[in-house]
Amino acid sequence: MNDRAQGEGLLARYLAVRAATEGLAAPLSAEDQAVQSMPDCSPTKWHRAHTTWFFEEFVLVPRGVSPVDERYRYLFNSYYEAVGPRHARPERGLLTRPSTKEIGAYRRAVDEQMSALLLRAEGPELEALLPLIELGLAHEEQHQELLLTDILHAFSMNPLLPAYREGAASWPGGPASPVRFQEHAGGLVQIGATGAGFSFDNERPRHRVWVEPFALASRLITVGEVRAFLEAGGYRTPSLWLAAGMDFVRQHGLSAPLHARVEGGSYRVFTLDGLQEASDDEPASHLSYYEADAIARFLGGRLPTEVEWEIAASGVAEVGANFRETGALRPLPAAASPLPSQLFGDTWEWTSSAYAPYPGFSTAPGAVGEYNGKFMVNQLVLRGGSCFTPRGHARASYRNFWPASTRFQMTGARLARSL
Ligand code: AVJ
Ligand code: FE
Repeated sequence: MNDRAQGEGLLARYLAVRAATEGLAAPLSAEDQAVQSMPDCSPTKWHRAHTTWFFEEFVLVPRGVSPVDERYRYLFNSYYEAVGPRHARPERGLLTRPSTKEIGAYRRAVDEQMSALLLRAEGPELEALLPLIELGLAHEEQHQELLLTDILHAFSMNPLLPAYREGAASWPGGPASPVRFQEHAGGLVQIGATGAGFSFDNERPRHRVWVEPFALASRLITVGEVRAFLEAGGYRTPSLWLAAGMDFVRQHGLSAPLHARVEGGSYRVFTLDGLQEASDDEPASHLSYYEADAIARFLGGRLPTEVEWEIAASGVAEVGANFRETGALRPLPAAASPLPSQLFGDTWEWTSSAYAPYPGFSTAPGAVGEYNGKFMVNQLVLRGGSCFTPRGHARASYRNFWPASTRFQMTGARLARSL
């Protein structure tokens, strides 16, 4: 491929990802876009600005383009120490200025500069741009998912229980396929990015691992299974919980997963379509690691390790998976299938693996080296993507990570057993 065709191809992808972000923000008013419901969540307009800042700071500024507004470098830097000081994360909801409209203009200004750059770059300059743009696009896709989880959380705190979009469809259909356990022999295996296509640094290097024989459930843990846990008094049964998990439950008075509203026999879930009746057959979502771990124990299993998950998922086709583009924006019952289902899409799957560097891991020099590496302590790995994840973003080697107490993400779990 010549430079022109490569530059134009990259630009087309860039513009498509940028337009998708704007599409997700489109149903939200300026008031909706300004709200921050807790320190872990960010306002929609902040996501729109921060993803723009990423391209400006890491692509345009180093190539001599002057920033659209010098002050944005402080406001929209998330956590990059090498870039400089930044606005405090818990106070992002105070940014009524710049206005939502001004942030739209910021996005368009940076898009123009990016377009000009991609159309003029050639040779080694284009070569050097490629990995940075890929990272910027993957970054923006991560924030597209965060935009949805964060507005879901904001709306869940509003007594009006607003819907993100109009015209709620009746999504969950069909009974979940009965759970089966697929056996794996284990042995000496390899995990990590294969080198085909983009990967984050935390997926590399590919390396060997020894695995004992195990079995993995053919589908995700369901609402029906969580309901059984609730009815058995699971949230009040210390023998099912890790000590930190029981403390967490007591401290916050938890009695159901986040966004679940359980009254009498009814189990409703707050979704982007508002409060919806949950089917027993749909995957349970918004579980913390602690809840996932306790429910797995109650069901007679355990959570898989990330290595077990990746072995099972390698070579599994992602076609038909319930990613964002299917439009459900909620996890759906597993289809009857002889193959393991829901490995991709529906909900992220907690693994029992600590988010730690792979053997031989190294960070890129400079500020982008802060992207993943410095978070490799006190978090757990999640796999597979969710119904909020854009198609093509996740892959078998993809490592998401969150602290054990995280519930506002689209998180669920799958059972594993040792053989
Ligand atoms: C991998 C989802 C935990 O939310 O901090 C966004 C993604 N990294 N910007 C996060 C991310 C940089 C990251 N998670
Ligand atoms: Fe970010």
